Amino acid sequence: MTSPLYSGATYAEAMVAWLPYKLEQLGLAHLLNDGPFADLGCGLGTVIATFQQKYPHIRFIGIDRNRECLDEARKIVSPDTLLIQASLRAISLRDNSLAVVFSHKIYQLCNEETYAEIAKEIHRTLRTGGVYFASEPMIDYKRPFLELGLVPMYEKESIIFKK
Ligand SMILES: C[S@@+](CC[C@H](N)C(=O)[O-])C[C@H]1O[C@@H](n2cnc3c(N)ncnc32)[C@H](O)[C@@H]1O
Repeated sequence: MTSPLYSGATYAEAMVAWLPYKLEQLGLAHLLNDGPFADLGCGLGTVIATFQQKYPHIRFIGIDRNRECLDEARKIVSPDTLLIQASLRAISLRDNSLAVVFSHKIYQLCNEETYAEIAKEIHRTLRTGGVYFASEPMIDYKRPFLELGLVPMYEKESIIFKK
């Protein structure tokens, strides 16, 4: 499989090309076919809506504290998408239930205590063998994830942690 080119693509389009490519390289491609896939701080839902075009058969969950964003997201995601208005510091999902957790630009206004609380929730809800893909440019948020035992499988402009 050759590396996908992103020229002219939106962020969500680039991710739907890149993440499967990278997970396949890591021997973890099955996770995207298994689901569920949770987008933390999903905002307007563009990442979920774009992934749903390629993976219509899996369960998608979007979590955001902003009601207006979720109302907009509802207009573009599949009707069976679970959209939850909540803080990421207390996620109302079962332990060990998620195959893929995704986040893009959610830590910009957070302090280290908040990263630590979110990290605990990600660690709790990810299933063993599942991955957390963090696309959080310019922010040093890694320490709490490492302390919980999540293992970085890939680390560049984004990080893929495995539980
Ligand atoms: C910069 S926007 C990014 C939205 C989306 N991930 C994207 O890339 O288009 C950050 C989003 O994260 C949400 N967010 C940030 N911190 C949060 C928290 N602690 N709990 C719930 N949502 C949060 C905000 O409401 C906002 O919608």
